[in-house]
Amino acid sequence: MTMQEKINELLALREKARLGGGEKRIDKQHSQGKFTARERILMFLDEGSFEEFDMFVSHRCTNFGLEKEKYLSDGVVTGYGTVEGRLVYVFSQDFTVFGGSLSETFAQKICKVMDQAMKVGAPVVGFNDSGGARIQEGVNSLAGYAEIFQRNILASGVVPQISAIFGPCAGGAVYSPALTDFIMMRKNTSYMFVTGPKVVKTVTNEDVTVEDLGGASIHSSKSGVAHFAVDSEEEGIALLRELMSYIPSNNMEEPPTIPCDDPINRLEDSLNAIIPDNPNKPYDVKEVINGIVDNGKFLEIQPNYAPNIIIGFARFNGMSVGIVANQPKYLAGVLDINASRKGARFVRFCDAFNIPLVTLVDVPGFLPGTAQEYGGIILHGAKLLYAYGECTVPKITVILRKNYGGAYCVMSSKHLRGDINYAWPTAEIAVMGGKGAVEILMGKEIKAIEDPQKQAEFIAEKEAEYRDAFANPYVAAKYGYIDDVIEPRNTRFRIIRALESLRNKRLENPAKKHDNLPL
Ligand code: HXC
Repeated sequence: MTMQEKINELLALREKARLGGGEKRIDKQHSQGKFTARERILMFLDEGSFEEFDMFVSHRCTNFGLEKEKYLSDGVVTGYGTVEGRLVYVFSQDFTVFGGSLSETFAQKICKVMDQAMKVGAPVVGFNDSGGARIQEGVNSLAGYAEIFQRNILASGVVPQISAIFGPCAGGAVYSPALTDFIMMRKNTSYMFVTGPKVVKTVTNEDVTVEDLGGASIHSSKSGVAHFAVDSEEEGIALLRELMSYIPSNNMEEPPTIPCDDPINRLEDSLNAIIPDNPNKPYDVKEVINGIVDNGKFLEIQPNYAPNIIIGFARFNGMSVGIVANQPKYLAGVLDINASRKGARFVRFCDAFNIPLVTLVDVPGFLPGTAQEYGGIILHGAKLLYAYGECTVPKITVILRKNYGGAYCVMSSKHLRGDINYAWPTAEIAVMGGKGAVEILMGKEIKAIEDPQKQAEFIAEKEAEYRDAFANPYVAAKYGYIDDVIEPRNTRFRIIRALESLRNKRLENPAKKHDNLPL
């Protein structure tokens, strides 16, 4: 062969690899409103930046006549490229080849990009669209999954790992995304479950659809497995790129800073009127967030799961921060099992990747009752406490209104190494709310009053006394537990100055093999 013929052969092989399982299956994929594996990567990465690995890999299986059916790339497209100029490793499962099912060589391709990403400290983003273990490969497929899991575990907290679920993801295959930092699902075309509706019917006799068992809506609202649910792959891919803009490439880097065109000392007058006079009336803490962050831009994570706590990324003077805020608009912002787990995982992600935390507090306490106790609120609540206590990134806290009981300690208090703790004049910091306190402290006196009218007046009077004495920020300020009481409209620049002052923060936890987070 001449050199030109050899080059032509290469180009022809490449073309063949790009066709995956062939035109017919690509058409089927498109007819289902899905992009192909390669299209997804090209949409996700900066134009022209994709460098592909292992196009010429094919499987080695000879069971069930599989030696006669081989496809270049073997069902997964892998390589690296850039997002906004920053290096990222990718893999994308190709449903047109054996339904994207995972073989020994398929797994090796994924492991290669993961190993490479770890060597150079770059994120790994995976697009999942797969029928699971390649049935013909038997235990080699299972071994392949386990090799990936092991790498997910070692990479956790070292490089960011993000999973986009754009098709099936079932059986043990769900555990690789579950080990990653963020899971995105597309509504109506993707699902995740440990086993599908047919097996569910035989085991538990439940009738359930794929969507109701493991669709994007379920996982983004009920189970909390998914962090994002999107309507289309285009929307999902844009969101992935946005998400990455807040996150450093590895745990040794600082998060990216971008130029800020929102004045840093902008006063947000609306915040001086946001807290209702009646302490039992809700308001939307997202208005506070939008009012103080750069250009009102907030990337909320898990918006439909445990909405009593809000988490997400934003910027102050171009610096990336993680925001945690109790949401008085939903269940009065109470901390329950789901909110504690949601908050804890986010705090730990931010801590692992050097992203400062800004915590906005308005919390009546932990949710009481049998459902919560039987579900283990003690352990789950401890997760949030643990996460805040162990974390060493800059921590800025602003107490907006209520901050009662154990929740006072948990929500990034001074005592859990909060670096700068502010309170608005509307803050109420006490062991418990006025009504509960009066009933416990004055039980005998209350019972002794027979006239119900007089009894109610007595309770109201004592409650007012209690509120005057405790429901304010000045008792905590007197002890130095908060650093200053600030005017709400000044919050933006006070946070920015605090963040600037903490740029060189150094804090380390005692050396240990690993911690024992209450799981
Ligand atoms: C080999 C598979 C496959 C698999 C699909 N295909 N899944 N080949 N191993 N696991 C092939 C099909 O034979 C078909 O080949 C092509 O992929 C497309 O599949 P269809 O069934 O035509 O597609 P669709 O109707 O869209 O259904 C998709 C599906 C279904 C729901 C994913 O294929 C399915 O149920 N697959 C099996 C899922 C499963 O049980 N997997 C094992 C789970 S256990 P042709 O040649 O016709 O295009 C597991 C354990 C992991 O994964 C453990 C990790 C620890």
